[in-house]
Amino acid sequence: MFNSRINRVAVLAVMAASFGSVVRAAEGENGSLYQRLGGMPAIQAVVDDFVSRILADDRVNRWFAHAASDPENARLYKAKLADFICQGTGGPCKYTGADMLSAHKGRGVTEDAFNAVVSDLVATLDKFKVPEKEKGQLLGILGPMKSGIVNK
Ligand code: HEM
Repeated sequence: MFNSRINRVAVLAVMAASFGSVVRAAEGENGSLYQRLGGMPAIQAVVDDFVSRILADDRVNRWFAHAASDPENARLYKAKLADFICQGTGGPCKYTGADMLSAHKGRGVTEDAFNAVVSDLVATLDKFKVPEKEKGQLLGILGPMKSGIVNK
């Protein structure tokens, strides 16, 4: 009885250890991409700078008249983007906005506009000196969303 209890504890301990290592392998050596980017404060700083670039970028700012028209609209848009990136990189946030297809439907987003937005994001990530590995992983998550966002 005593022995089998010890065995059960030992088996559970081994299972927990191996599950942990599987999760760590999936997340990378030093935690999730969310953690490696610096968590929510870093993501919010990235989103702030990124949205400022978009609003100042004549290649794309005509799409963002709503966000530009009122500080509260800009704040809500930034909060949605930050939650979206937080959740998509393995963070604890719950994104409650529209899915990418619905959010961009009818906006006539072109491939050139998509590429311009990505180049604004790259400029922001470079400004914050996000390492190549994390930059590549974030772009690798967002890049494949192109087909759902571009609709012209
Ligand atoms: C990987 C690239 C992109 C991602 C991850 C992304 C993500 C998002 C998210 C999360 C929202 C909020 C949806 C909601 O309010 O429920 C949004 C809204 C929007 N997106 Fe995108 N988007 C991308 C590219 C683009 C591009 C290329 C354009 C146009 C050039 C664009 C135009 C818009 C506009 C106009 C809104 C509404 C903003 C507002 O609330 O005023 N997006 N996008």
